Amino acid sequence: MQNSKKRNTWGSRLGIIMAVAGSAVGLGNFLRFPAKAVCNGGGAFMIPYFISLLLLGLPLMWIEWTLGRFGGGFGHGTAPGIFHSVWRKNRFIKYFGIIGIFGPLVIFIYYVYIESWTLAYSFFALFGKYGKLADQASMQNFLRGFQGLENNQYFQGLSIAYIFFLITFILNSWIIFHGIKGGIERFCKWAMPVLFVFGCILLARVVTLGAPNPAQPDWNVSNGFGFLWNPDFSALKSSHVWLEAAGQIFFTLSVGIGVILTYASYLSKGDDVVLSGLTATATNEFAEVILGGSIIIPTAFIFFGPNNIRAIAQSGVFNLGFVTMPLVLNKLPFAQLFGFFWFFLLFLAGITSSVSLAQPAIAFLEDEFNLSRKKAVLIFSILTFILCQGAVFFLKNGVVDELDFWGGTFFLVLFATIEVILFVFVFGMENAWDEIHKGADMKIPAIYKFIIKYITPLFLFFILVSWFWQEWIPIILMKNISLSDRPFILVTRVLLILAFLILGVLVKIAWKNKTKVDNR
Ligand code: ALA
Repeated sequence: MQNSKKRNTWGSRLGIIMAVAGSAVGLGNFLRFPAKAVCNGGGAFMIPYFISLLLLGLPLMWIEWTLGRFGGGFGHGTAPGIFHSVWRKNRFIKYFGIIGIFGPLVIFIYYVYIESWTLAYSFFALFGKYGKLADQASMQNFLRGFQGLENNQYFQGLSIAYIFFLITFILNSWIIFHGIKGGIERFCKWAMPVLFVFGCILLARVVTLGAPNPAQPDWNVSNGFGFLWNPDFSALKSSHVWLEAAGQIFFTLSVGIGVILTYASYLSKGDDVVLSGLTATATNEFAEVILGGSIIIPTAFIFFGPNNIRAIAQSGVFNLGFVTMPLVLNKLPFAQLFGFFWFFLLFLAGITSSVSLAQPAIAFLEDEFNLSRKKAVLIFSILTFILCQGAVFFLKNGVVDELDFWGGTFFLVLFATIEVILFVFVFGMENAWDEIHKGADMKIPAIYKFIIKYITPLFLFFILVSWFWQEWIPIILMKNISLSDRPFILVTRVLLILAFLILGVLVKIAWKNKTKVDNR
Protein backbone atom coordinates (compact mmCIF):
# COMPACT_ATOMS: atom_id res chain seq x y z
CA MET A 1 0.00 0.00 0.00
CA GLN A 2 2.84 2.34 -0.77
CA ASN A 3 1.90 5.81 -1.95
CA SER A 4 3.32 6.53 -5.38
CA LYS A 5 3.10 10.35 -5.10
CA LYS A 6 6.30 12.14 -4.12
CA ARG A 7 5.91 13.44 -0.59
CA ASN A 8 7.09 16.77 0.77
CA THR A 9 10.40 16.82 2.63
CA TRP A 10 12.17 19.18 5.00
CA GLY A 11 14.87 21.40 3.58
CA SER A 12 17.35 21.15 6.43
CA ARG A 13 17.87 19.67 9.85
CA LEU A 14 17.71 23.09 11.46
CA GLY A 15 14.46 23.63 9.60
CA ILE A 16 12.71 20.60 11.04
CA ILE A 17 13.98 21.31 14.56
CA MET A 18 12.69 24.88 14.28
CA ALA A 19 9.36 23.62 12.97
CA VAL A 20 8.90 21.02 15.72
CA ALA A 21 10.05 23.53 18.34
CA GLY A 22 7.68 26.03 16.70
CA SER A 23 4.84 23.54 17.05
CA ALA A 24 5.72 22.96 20.69
CA VAL A 25 6.39 26.56 21.71
CA GLY A 26 2.97 28.11 21.66
CA LEU A 27 0.29 29.84 23.65
CA GLY A 28 0.61 26.90 26.02
CA ASN A 29 4.08 28.09 27.06
CA PHE A 30 3.25 31.70 27.70
CA LEU A 31 -0.41 31.65 28.76
CA ARG A 32 -1.39 28.15 29.87
CA PHE A 33 1.81 27.28 31.76
CA PRO A 34 1.92 30.36 34.02
CA ALA A 35 -1.80 30.03 34.75
CA LYS A 36 -1.49 26.32 35.60
CA ALA A 37 1.65 26.86 37.69
CA VAL A 38 0.08 29.67 39.69
CA CYS A 39 -3.28 27.90 40.18
CA ASN A 40 -1.50 24.77 41.39
CA GLY A 41 0.65 26.49 43.96
CA GLY A 42 3.76 27.65 42.07
CA GLY A 43 6.64 25.58 43.45
CA ALA A 44 4.20 22.76 44.18
CA PHE A 45 3.55 22.35 40.48
CA MET A 46 7.12 22.17 39.30
CA ILE A 47 8.09 18.79 40.79
CA PRO A 48 5.29 16.80 39.09
CA TYR A 49 5.93 18.93 36.02
CA PHE A 50 9.58 17.93 35.70
CA ILE A 51 8.87 14.31 36.57
CA SER A 52 6.20 14.25 33.84
CA LEU A 53 8.65 15.83 31.43
CA LEU A 54 11.24 13.11 32.00
CA LEU A 55 8.89 10.14 32.23
CA LEU A 56 6.22 11.11 29.71
CA GLY A 57 7.19 14.07 27.58
CA LEU A 58 10.66 13.10 26.46
CA PRO A 59 9.86 9.40 25.84
CA LEU A 60 6.76 10.37 23.85
CA MET A 61 8.74 12.88 21.86
CA TRP A 62 11.17 10.13 20.80
CA ILE A 63 8.37 7.64 20.18
CA GLU A 64 6.48 10.07 17.94
CA TRP A 65 9.56 11.10 15.95
CA THR A 66 10.38 7.43 15.43
CA LEU A 67 6.86 6.29 14.53
CA GLY A 68 6.44 9.27 12.22
CA ARG A 69 9.68 8.62 10.35
CA PHE A 70 8.77 4.92 10.13
CA GLY A 71 5.28 5.61 8.70
CA GLY A 72 6.63 8.26 6.35
CA GLY A 73 8.77 5.53 4.78
CA PHE A 74 5.50 3.89 3.68
CA GLY A 75 4.03 7.14 2.40
CA HIS A 76 1.86 7.79 5.46
CA GLY A 77 1.96 11.08 7.34
CA THR A 78 -0.90 10.57 9.76
CA ALA A 79 -1.73 8.14 12.51
CA PRO A 80 -4.19 5.86 10.64
CA GLY A 81 -1.53 4.98 8.05
CA ILE A 82 1.35 5.02 10.52
CA PHE A 83 -0.45 2.70 12.94
CA HIS A 84 -1.39 0.44 10.04
CA SER A 85 2.26 0.30 8.94
CA VAL A 86 3.26 -0.81 12.43
CA TRP A 87 0.51 -3.42 12.85
CA ARG A 88 -0.52 -4.63 9.41
CA LYS A 89 -2.31 -7.71 10.68
CA ASN A 90 -4.80 -5.69 12.68
CA ARG A 91 -7.71 -4.37 10.64
CA PHE A 92 -8.90 -1.98 13.31
CA ILE A 93 -5.75 -0.22 14.41
CA LYS A 94 -6.03 2.41 11.68
CA TYR A 95 -9.30 3.58 13.22
CA PHE A 96 -7.55 4.34 16.52
CA GLY A 97 -5.30 6.57 14.46
CA ILE A 98 -8.25 8.85 13.69
CA ILE A 99 -7.57 10.56 17.03
CA GLY A 100 -4.28 11.82 15.58
CA ILE A 101 -6.20 13.85 13.00
CA PHE A 102 -9.26 14.65 15.07
CA GLY A 103 -7.33 16.00 18.11
CA PRO A 104 -5.28 18.63 16.26
CA LEU A 105 -8.33 19.62 14.21
CA VAL A 106 -10.33 20.28 17.37
CA ILE A 107 -7.48 22.28 18.93
CA PHE A 108 -6.99 24.23 15.70
CA ILE A 109 -10.63 25.38 15.73
CA TYR A 110 -10.27 27.39 18.94
CA TYR A 111 -6.51 27.95 18.92
CA VAL A 112 -6.57 30.13 15.81
CA TYR A 113 -9.20 32.34 17.36
CA ILE A 114 -7.19 32.87 20.56
CA GLU A 115 -4.10 33.44 18.41
CA SER A 116 -5.98 36.19 16.61
CA TRP A 117 -6.52 38.00 19.93
CA THR A 118 -2.75 38.20 20.36
CA LEU A 119 -2.40 39.79 16.92
CA ALA A 120 -5.15 42.26 17.76
CA TYR A 121 -3.56 43.12 21.10
CA SER A 122 -0.17 43.67 19.40
CA PHE A 123 -1.84 46.41 17.39
CA PHE A 124 -3.74 47.74 20.39
CA ALA A 125 -0.45 47.91 22.32
CA LEU A 126 1.46 49.61 19.54
CA PHE A 127 -1.24 52.21 18.93
CA GLY A 128 -1.94 52.78 22.61
CA LYS A 129 -5.56 51.61 22.45
CA TYR A 130 -5.55 50.34 26.03
CA GLY A 131 -2.70 52.63 27.17
CA LYS A 132 -4.83 54.71 29.54
CA LEU A 133 -6.36 51.79 31.40
CA ALA A 134 -4.85 51.66 34.86
CA ASP A 135 -6.77 49.10 36.85
CA GLN A 136 -7.67 45.44 36.68
CA ALA A 137 -11.41 46.06 36.25
CA SER A 138 -11.09 48.33 33.21
CA MET A 139 -8.56 46.06 31.53
CA GLN A 140 -10.88 43.13 32.20
CA ASN A 141 -13.80 45.04 30.64
CA PHE A 142 -11.63 45.85 27.65
CA LEU A 143 -10.96 42.14 27.17
CA ARG A 144 -14.60 41.18 27.68
CA GLY A 145 -15.72 43.81 25.21
CA PHE A 146 -13.18 42.63 22.65
CA GLN A 147 -14.23 38.99 23.07
CA GLY A 148 -17.86 39.96 22.55
CA LEU A 149 -18.84 38.88 26.04
CA GLU A 150 -20.40 42.29 26.66
CA ASN A 151 -20.99 45.56 24.84
CA ASN A 152 -19.18 48.40 26.58
CA GLN A 153 -17.42 51.71 26.00
CA TYR A 154 -14.46 49.91 24.40
CA PHE A 155 -16.15 47.57 21.94
CA GLN A 156 -19.60 47.05 20.48
CA GLY A 157 -20.05 43.57 19.07
CA LEU A 158 -17.45 41.26 17.63
CA SER A 159 -16.48 43.11 14.46
CA ILE A 160 -12.90 44.05 15.47
CA ALA A 161 -12.20 40.60 16.85
CA TYR A 162 -13.64 39.07 13.70
CA ILE A 163 -11.38 41.11 11.41
CA PHE A 164 -8.31 39.92 13.30
CA PHE A 165 -9.63 36.39 13.24
CA LEU A 166 -9.95 36.59 9.45
CA ILE A 167 -6.42 37.96 9.04
CA THR A 168 -5.01 35.22 11.28
CA PHE A 169 -6.96 32.49 9.54
CA ILE A 170 -5.85 33.63 6.09
CA LEU A 171 -2.23 33.87 7.25
CA ASN A 172 -2.39 30.30 8.53
CA SER A 173 -3.87 29.02 5.28
CA TRP A 174 -1.28 30.94 3.30
CA ILE A 175 1.65 29.42 5.20
CA ILE A 176 0.25 25.89 4.97
CA PHE A 177 -0.53 26.38 1.31
CA HIS A 178 3.18 26.91 0.62
CA GLY A 179 4.00 23.46 1.89
CA ILE A 180 6.35 21.90 4.38
CA LYS A 181 9.60 23.39 3.13
CA GLY A 182 8.41 26.54 1.38
CA GLY A 183 5.77 27.45 3.95
CA ILE A 184 6.11 26.00 7.44
CA GLU A 185 9.88 25.57 7.53
CA ARG A 186 10.59 28.93 5.95
CA PHE A 187 8.25 30.73 8.31
CA CYS A 188 9.48 28.98 11.48
CA LYS A 189 13.10 29.66 10.60
CA TRP A 190 12.61 33.39 11.04
CA ALA A 191 9.67 33.40 13.48
CA MET A 192 11.38 31.31 16.15
CA PRO A 193 14.53 33.45 16.49
CA VAL A 194 12.39 36.62 16.58
CA LEU A 195 10.22 35.05 19.27
CA PHE A 196 13.28 34.24 21.37
CA VAL A 197 14.73 37.73 20.97
CA PHE A 198 11.43 39.30 22.12
CA GLY A 199 11.27 36.81 25.00
CA CYS A 200 14.80 37.66 26.14
CA ILE A 201 14.13 41.41 25.95
CA LEU A 202 11.05 40.98 28.14
CA LEU A 203 12.94 38.73 30.53
CA ALA A 204 15.70 41.31 30.88
CA ARG A 205 13.04 43.93 31.61
CA VAL A 206 11.45 41.79 34.31
CA VAL A 207 14.67 40.96 36.18
CA THR A 208 15.50 44.64 36.45
CA LEU A 209 12.14 45.57 37.98
CA GLY A 210 13.33 45.33 41.60
CA ALA A 211 10.58 46.07 44.14
CA PRO A 212 8.56 48.91 42.61
CA ASN A 213 6.03 49.16 45.46
CA PRO A 214 7.74 50.81 48.48
CA ALA A 215 4.88 49.77 50.75
CA GLN A 216 5.50 46.10 49.89
CA PRO A 217 9.27 45.48 49.86
CA ASP A 218 8.66 41.71 49.86
CA TRP A 219 6.97 41.93 46.49
CA ASN A 220 10.28 41.87 44.68
CA VAL A 221 11.84 40.02 41.77
CA SER A 222 13.62 37.36 43.78
CA ASN A 223 10.47 36.47 45.74
CA GLY A 224 8.63 36.46 42.41
CA PHE A 225 11.00 33.81 41.14
CA GLY A 226 10.81 32.03 44.49
CA PHE A 227 7.04 31.71 44.00
CA LEU A 228 7.72 29.34 41.12
CA TRP A 229 10.96 27.79 42.22
CA ASN A 230 10.71 27.15 45.98
CA PRO A 231 9.74 23.48 45.96
CA ASP A 232 6.70 22.33 47.88
CA PHE A 233 6.81 18.57 48.35
CA SER A 234 3.37 18.37 49.92
CA ALA A 235 1.81 18.68 46.46
CA LEU A 236 3.18 15.30 45.45
CA LYS A 237 0.22 13.78 47.29
CA SER A 238 -2.36 15.57 45.18
CA SER A 239 -3.46 13.58 42.15
CA HIS A 240 -5.07 16.73 40.75
CA VAL A 241 -1.71 18.51 40.60
CA TRP A 242 -0.19 15.47 38.90
CA LEU A 243 -2.94 15.43 36.29
CA GLU A 244 -2.55 19.12 35.64
CA ALA A 245 1.23 18.88 35.35
CA ALA A 246 1.12 15.88 33.03
CA GLY A 247 -1.60 17.54 30.93
CA GLN A 248 0.56 20.62 30.56
CA ILE A 249 3.52 18.53 29.40
CA PHE A 250 1.40 16.95 26.66
CA PHE A 251 -0.03 20.24 25.50
CA THR A 252 3.20 22.18 25.58
CA LEU A 253 5.35 19.59 23.82
CA SER A 254 2.58 18.89 21.28
CA VAL A 255 2.91 15.20 22.10
CA GLY A 256 -0.13 12.93 22.05
CA ILE A 257 -1.68 15.30 19.54
CA GLY A 258 -0.52 13.76 16.29
CA VAL A 259 1.40 16.70 14.85
CA ILE A 260 4.89 15.41 15.60
CA LEU A 261 4.03 12.12 13.90
CA THR A 262 3.15 14.11 10.82
CA TYR A 263 6.17 16.41 10.91
CA ALA A 264 8.51 13.44 11.43
CA SER A 265 6.92 11.58 8.52
CA TYR A 266 8.69 14.02 6.17
CA LEU A 267 12.11 12.85 7.42
CA SER A 268 14.21 10.38 5.48
CA LYS A 269 15.02 6.94 6.81
CA GLY A 270 18.55 7.79 7.93
CA ASP A 271 17.71 11.13 9.59
CA ASP A 272 18.47 11.39 13.28
CA VAL A 273 15.49 11.54 15.61
CA VAL A 274 17.21 11.23 18.99
CA LEU A 275 19.18 14.46 19.12
CA SER A 276 16.57 16.34 17.09
CA GLY A 277 13.77 15.26 19.46
CA LEU A 278 15.88 16.20 22.45
CA THR A 279 16.76 19.59 20.96
CA ALA A 280 13.13 20.37 20.18
CA THR A 281 12.15 19.39 23.74
CA ALA A 282 14.94 21.46 25.27
CA THR A 283 14.01 24.48 23.15
CA ASN A 284 10.41 24.20 24.23
CA GLU A 285 11.34 23.87 27.90
CA PHE A 286 13.60 26.90 27.67
CA ALA A 287 10.70 28.86 26.20
CA GLU A 288 8.23 27.55 28.76
CA VAL A 289 10.10 27.46 32.02
CA ILE A 290 12.71 30.17 31.52
CA LEU A 291 10.73 32.61 29.40
CA GLY A 292 7.10 31.62 30.02
CA GLY A 293 7.65 31.16 33.74
CA SER A 294 9.91 34.14 34.27
CA ILE A 295 8.02 36.84 32.45
CA ILE A 296 4.44 36.69 33.62
CA ILE A 297 4.75 35.17 37.09
CA PRO A 298 7.39 37.43 38.68
CA THR A 299 5.84 40.48 37.00
CA ALA A 300 2.38 39.71 38.36
CA PHE A 301 3.89 38.86 41.75
CA ILE A 302 5.78 42.13 42.04
CA PHE A 303 2.76 44.26 41.27
CA PHE A 304 -0.03 42.26 42.87
CA GLY A 305 1.57 40.07 45.56
CA PRO A 306 1.35 36.32 46.24
CA ASN A 307 -2.33 36.14 47.19
CA ASN A 308 -3.76 38.27 44.43
CA ILE A 309 -1.76 36.53 41.73
CA ARG A 310 -3.51 33.26 42.62
CA ALA A 311 -6.92 34.92 42.57
CA ILE A 312 -6.16 36.46 39.17
CA ALA A 313 -5.02 33.17 37.64
CA GLN A 314 -7.99 31.31 39.08
CA SER A 315 -10.45 33.82 37.68
CA GLY A 316 -9.63 32.82 34.09
CA VAL A 317 -6.82 31.31 32.06
CA PHE A 318 -6.42 34.45 29.93
CA ASN A 319 -6.36 36.97 32.74
CA LEU A 320 -2.65 36.83 33.49
CA GLY A 321 -1.71 37.28 29.84
CA PHE A 322 -4.38 39.67 28.58
CA VAL A 323 -5.20 41.65 31.70
CA THR A 324 -2.35 41.61 34.20
CA MET A 325 0.56 41.77 31.75
CA PRO A 326 -0.66 44.77 29.72
CA LEU A 327 -1.66 46.50 32.94
CA VAL A 328 1.81 46.09 34.42
CA LEU A 329 3.58 47.00 31.17
CA ASN A 330 1.44 50.15 31.06
CA LYS A 331 3.12 51.30 34.26
CA LEU A 332 6.63 51.06 32.76
CA PRO A 333 8.54 53.32 30.39
CA PHE A 334 8.11 52.42 26.68
CA ALA A 335 4.84 50.69 27.55
CA GLN A 336 3.64 50.58 23.95
CA LEU A 337 6.80 48.93 22.71
CA PHE A 338 6.96 46.34 25.50
CA GLY A 339 3.25 45.64 25.11
CA PHE A 340 3.84 45.03 21.43
CA PHE A 341 6.81 42.72 22.18
CA TRP A 342 4.67 40.70 24.56
CA PHE A 343 1.67 40.22 22.30
CA PHE A 344 3.62 39.76 19.10
CA LEU A 345 5.72 37.11 20.84
CA LEU A 346 2.46 35.38 21.71
CA PHE A 347 1.29 35.70 18.13
CA LEU A 348 4.46 34.14 16.70
CA ALA A 349 4.32 31.38 19.29
CA GLY A 350 0.69 30.78 18.35
CA ILE A 351 1.01 30.74 14.59
CA THR A 352 4.02 28.40 14.51
CA SER A 353 1.85 25.99 16.53
CA SER A 354 -1.41 26.40 14.65
CA VAL A 355 0.15 25.62 11.28
CA SER A 356 1.38 22.36 12.79
CA LEU A 357 -2.11 21.61 14.08
CA ALA A 358 -3.45 21.96 10.56
CA GLN A 359 -0.85 19.72 8.99
CA PRO A 360 -2.20 16.25 9.99
CA ALA A 361 -5.58 16.83 8.30
CA ILE A 362 -3.85 18.17 5.19
CA ALA A 363 -1.35 15.31 5.11
CA PHE A 364 -4.24 12.85 5.47
CA LEU A 365 -5.97 14.26 2.39
CA GLU A 366 -2.71 14.37 0.43
CA ASP A 367 -1.38 10.96 1.41
CA GLU A 368 -4.52 8.85 1.62
CA PHE A 369 -6.62 10.48 -1.10
CA ASN A 370 -3.80 11.57 -3.39
CA LEU A 371 -5.09 15.14 -3.42
CA SER A 372 -2.81 17.97 -4.44
CA ARG A 373 -1.69 20.28 -1.65
CA LYS A 374 -3.74 23.08 -3.16
CA LYS A 375 -6.94 21.06 -3.03
CA ALA A 376 -6.18 19.67 0.43
CA VAL A 377 -5.56 23.16 1.85
CA LEU A 378 -8.71 24.48 0.20
CA ILE A 379 -10.90 21.72 1.66
CA PHE A 380 -9.26 22.10 5.06
CA SER A 381 -9.65 25.88 5.07
CA ILE A 382 -13.31 25.87 4.08
CA LEU A 383 -14.18 23.21 6.62
CA THR A 384 -12.27 24.66 9.55
CA PHE A 385 -13.43 28.16 8.75
CA ILE A 386 -17.02 26.98 9.22
CA LEU A 387 -16.13 25.08 12.39
CA CYS A 388 -14.23 28.04 13.87
CA GLN A 389 -17.46 30.06 13.91
CA GLY A 390 -18.58 28.00 16.91
CA ALA A 391 -15.50 29.08 18.88
CA VAL A 392 -15.88 32.72 17.79
CA PHE A 393 -19.57 33.19 18.44
CA PHE A 394 -20.16 30.85 21.35
CA LEU A 395 -17.09 31.56 23.47
CA LYS A 396 -19.38 32.95 26.15
CA ASN A 397 -21.26 29.66 26.30
CA GLY A 398 -18.16 27.64 27.13
CA VAL A 399 -17.61 26.12 23.67
CA VAL A 400 -13.87 26.88 23.69
CA ASP A 401 -13.44 25.25 27.12
CA GLU A 402 -15.31 22.21 25.89
CA LEU A 403 -13.15 21.89 22.78
CA ASP A 404 -10.03 22.38 24.90
CA PHE A 405 -11.08 19.63 27.25
CA TRP A 406 -11.61 17.01 24.54
CA GLY A 407 -9.04 18.09 21.95
CA GLY A 408 -6.44 19.61 24.26
CA THR A 409 -6.63 17.31 27.29
CA PHE A 410 -8.49 14.02 27.14
CA PHE A 411 -7.64 12.75 23.67
CA LEU A 412 -3.96 13.60 24.11
CA VAL A 413 -3.59 11.17 26.96
CA LEU A 414 -5.66 8.51 25.23
CA PHE A 415 -3.74 8.83 21.98
CA ALA A 416 -0.39 8.76 23.75
CA THR A 417 -1.41 5.57 25.54
CA ILE A 418 -2.27 3.90 22.23
CA GLU A 419 1.04 5.03 20.72
CA VAL A 420 3.10 3.68 23.60
CA ILE A 421 1.31 0.34 23.59
CA LEU A 422 1.87 0.00 19.85
CA PHE A 423 5.48 1.01 20.11
CA VAL A 424 6.43 -1.15 23.05
CA PHE A 425 4.24 -4.20 22.63
CA VAL A 426 3.46 -4.47 18.93
CA PHE A 427 6.64 -3.11 17.45
CA GLY A 428 8.49 -4.80 20.30
CA MET A 429 10.91 -3.01 22.59
CA GLU A 430 14.07 -4.38 20.97
CA ASN A 431 12.86 -3.46 17.50
CA ALA A 432 11.70 -0.09 18.75
CA TRP A 433 15.05 0.64 20.37
CA ASP A 434 16.85 -0.19 17.11
CA GLU A 435 14.41 1.90 15.11
CA ILE A 436 14.89 4.94 17.39
CA HIS A 437 18.64 4.72 16.97
CA LYS A 438 18.68 4.45 13.17
CA GLY A 439 20.83 7.35 11.96
CA ALA A 440 21.02 8.65 15.53
CA ASP A 441 23.67 11.22 16.46
CA MET A 442 23.67 10.11 20.09
CA LYS A 443 22.59 7.13 22.14
CA ILE A 444 19.65 7.43 24.51
CA PRO A 445 20.69 6.45 28.08
CA ALA A 446 19.82 2.78 28.63
CA ILE A 447 17.54 3.63 31.57
CA TYR A 448 15.07 4.99 29.01
CA LYS A 449 14.56 1.50 27.63
CA PHE A 450 13.12 0.59 31.00
CA ILE A 451 11.24 3.88 31.32
CA ILE A 452 9.61 3.61 27.88
CA LYS A 453 8.69 -0.03 28.40
CA TYR A 454 7.28 0.13 31.92
CA ILE A 455 7.11 3.57 33.48
CA THR A 456 5.60 5.61 30.64
CA PRO A 457 2.70 3.18 30.00
CA LEU A 458 2.04 2.81 33.73
CA PHE A 459 2.11 6.56 34.23
CA LEU A 460 -0.36 7.02 31.36
CA PHE A 461 -2.58 4.30 32.76
CA PHE A 462 -2.51 6.02 36.16
CA ILE A 463 -3.53 9.32 34.58
CA LEU A 464 -6.40 7.76 32.64
CA VAL A 465 -7.70 5.83 35.64
CA SER A 466 -7.46 8.83 37.99
CA TRP A 467 -9.20 10.94 35.42
CA PHE A 468 -12.06 8.48 35.05
CA TRP A 469 -12.27 8.08 38.79
CA GLN A 470 -12.29 11.76 39.67
CA GLU A 471 -13.86 13.58 36.82
CA TRP A 472 -15.73 11.34 34.40
CA ILE A 473 -19.27 11.49 35.83
CA PRO A 474 -19.47 15.27 36.40
CA ILE A 475 -18.01 15.91 32.95
CA ILE A 476 -20.35 13.59 31.11
CA LEU A 477 -23.35 14.89 33.02
CA MET A 478 -22.20 18.51 32.48
CA LYS A 479 -22.44 19.08 36.23
CA ASN A 480 -20.15 22.14 36.18
CA ILE A 481 -21.91 23.79 33.28
CA SER A 482 -24.73 26.26 33.79
CA LEU A 483 -28.18 25.20 32.65
CA SER A 484 -28.30 27.91 30.00
CA ASP A 485 -25.00 26.76 28.44
CA ARG A 486 -25.84 23.06 28.38
CA PRO A 487 -27.59 23.09 24.99
CA PHE A 488 -24.48 24.69 23.42
CA ILE A 489 -22.20 22.12 24.98
CA LEU A 490 -24.49 19.32 23.90
CA VAL A 491 -24.50 20.53 20.31
CA THR A 492 -20.67 20.84 20.45
CA ARG A 493 -20.42 17.25 21.65
CA VAL A 494 -22.78 15.97 18.97
CA LEU A 495 -20.73 17.79 16.31
CA LEU A 496 -17.51 16.36 17.70
CA ILE A 497 -18.90 12.84 17.55
CA LEU A 498 -20.08 13.49 14.01
CA ALA A 499 -16.64 14.78 12.97
CA PHE A 500 -15.05 11.70 14.48
CA LEU A 501 -17.43 9.40 12.61
CA ILE A 502 -16.85 11.23 9.32
CA LEU A 503 -13.12 10.75 9.75
CA GLY A 504 -13.80 7.06 10.38
CA VAL A 505 -15.74 6.79 7.13
CA LEU A 506 -12.94 8.62 5.27
CA VAL A 507 -10.36 6.17 6.60
CA LYS A 508 -12.56 3.29 5.46
CA ILE A 509 -12.97 4.78 1.98
CA ALA A 510 -9.25 5.54 1.68
CA TRP A 511 -8.26 1.99 2.50
CA LYS A 512 -10.91 0.54 0.23
CA ASN A 513 -9.58 2.64 -2.66
CA LYS A 514 -6.01 1.64 -1.93
CA THR A 515 -6.89 -2.05 -1.80
CA LYS A 516 -8.57 -1.70 -5.21
CA VAL A 517 -5.46 -0.01 -6.63
CA ASP A 518 -3.16 -2.63 -5.07
CA ASN A 519 -5.23 -5.51 -6.50
CA ARG A 520 -5.18 -4.13 -10.02
N1 ALA B 1 2.28 23.01 21.92
C1 ALA B 1 1.42 24.08 21.58
C2 ALA B 1 1.30 25.06 22.67
O1 ALA B 1 1.97 24.94 23.67
C3 ALA B 1 0.09 23.54 21.14
O2 ALA B 1 0.54 25.97 22.56
